[in-house]
Amino acid sequence: MSETLNIPSNASKETVYDSLITQLSALIAAETDRTAALANVTAALHEALGFFWTGFYLIKNDRLTLNVFQGPIACSRIAYGRGVCGTAWAEKRTIKVDDVDEFPGHIACSSLSRSEIVVPLVKNGKVLGVLDIDSDKPTMFDDTDREKLEKLCEIIVCTCF
Ligand code: SME
Repeated sequence: MSETLNIPSNASKETVYDSLITQLSALIAAETDRTAALANVTAALHEALGFFWTGFYLIKNDRLTLNVFQGPIACSRIAYGRGVCGTAWAEKRTIKVDDVDEFPGHIACSSLSRSEIVVPLVKNGKVLGVLDIDSDKPTMFDDTDREKLEKLCEIIVCTCF
């Protein structure tokens, strides 16, 4: 597999996600180091879809702990039930926020973040971490993002954990 991903230009978001999911599935299946695999997932999503912040938090010592990411520096630990990430952990479901100012308890790692989607990584009913993506524009995430990112996270859980 080439180390450069092939991202279709002028394609719909759905097509970009489908192409990414196909290529990333092969890339992470060929990588035995979890950090290396997740690092490439964040880089590919961030570059192909132009997000403001893209990264993983993994649960360590009962906190979501900052893992690989692309974008500005971020808070390094998040407690259960806190912020969008901690809520996705507590509720074991994807949380999509159109306007972060409207989400009670949102943790503002950057004042430039305007909307956000957080997908939990769930294995055997247990949350292992989250994929967190921020946009600097409001209402950037829709059901296509939710569906495709959930599919990608399922593949990540099966392959990397
Ligand atoms: N906004 C998140 C915190 C993580 S940063 O966005 C990278 C939250 O409320 O959990």
